[in-house]
Amino acid sequence: MLDELKDANEYIVSKIKETDTLILEMEAFALEHNVPIVTKEVAEYLKFLVESHNFKNILEIGTAIGYSGTIMGRVAKANGGKLTTIEIDEIRYQQALENFKKAGLENNINAILGDGVEEVKKLDEKFDFIFIDASKGHYMEFFNDSFERLSDNGIIFIDNIMFRGYLYKEYPKRFKTIVRRLNEFIDYLYAHHNFVLLPFGDGIGLVRNKITK
Ligand SMILES: C[S@@+](CC[C@H](N)C(=O)[O-])C[C@H]1O[C@@H](n2cnc3c(N)ncnc32)[C@H](O)[C@@H]1O
Repeated sequence: MLDELKDANEYIVSKIKETDTLILEMEAFALEHNVPIVTKEVAEYLKFLVESHNFKNILEIGTAIGYSGTIMGRVAKANGGKLTTIEIDEIRYQQALENFKKAGLENNINAILGDGVEEVKKLDEKFDFIFIDASKGHYMEFFNDSFERLSDNGIIFIDNIMFRGYLYKEYPKRFKTIVRRLNEFIDYLYAHHNFVLLPFGDGIGLVRNKITK
């Protein structure tokens, strides 16, 4: 990440005063057990976005321990809807189920244990918000299958799309394939979709369902 952006993100995070006990508990757990969850400023933006659009039927690819899922699930519940969330790792899936229960969301969340690449294809419904936050090597597949399930005024939110800043600065060579794929993915989104790229958090991509080009 560029130093100026890192400073800006740190500044934003320093201003956010979280008081929700369960959210604080999950943040501490993630830090202690090295579970990747959305950064605080991205969590705030995610919440802002789903709340301001009153999204009801939400899909998430990459549940982890249910941190972003709890944030979005609460909004879906308040709007009389639900969150469908997919996680490939069984231990994290079980932890997420516990957290959803603590949040009182068990009736508003359809948590799926499986590979998002396969599971999204099986979903026979439309979603008005789709949050892609799983393995970056599969972003194009997650996106294309999700896009088919996006409702008319829906939005797809893609996290970590600029992958630690490696898309625009030097990076360890072992990430060559992921960097190439993400660059191709961004070019594809600009060429074919109603897409905006935000230098926020670790890079966020937003897509509206209307194809303009
Ligand atoms: C960045 S974490 C998700 C964090 C979560 N969205 C949050 O902010 O609370 C990515 C998660 O995606 C899961 N994952 C990776 N590849 C996946 C796949 N193909 N299908 C479903 N989940 C996957 C990982 O096990 C990991 O828990």
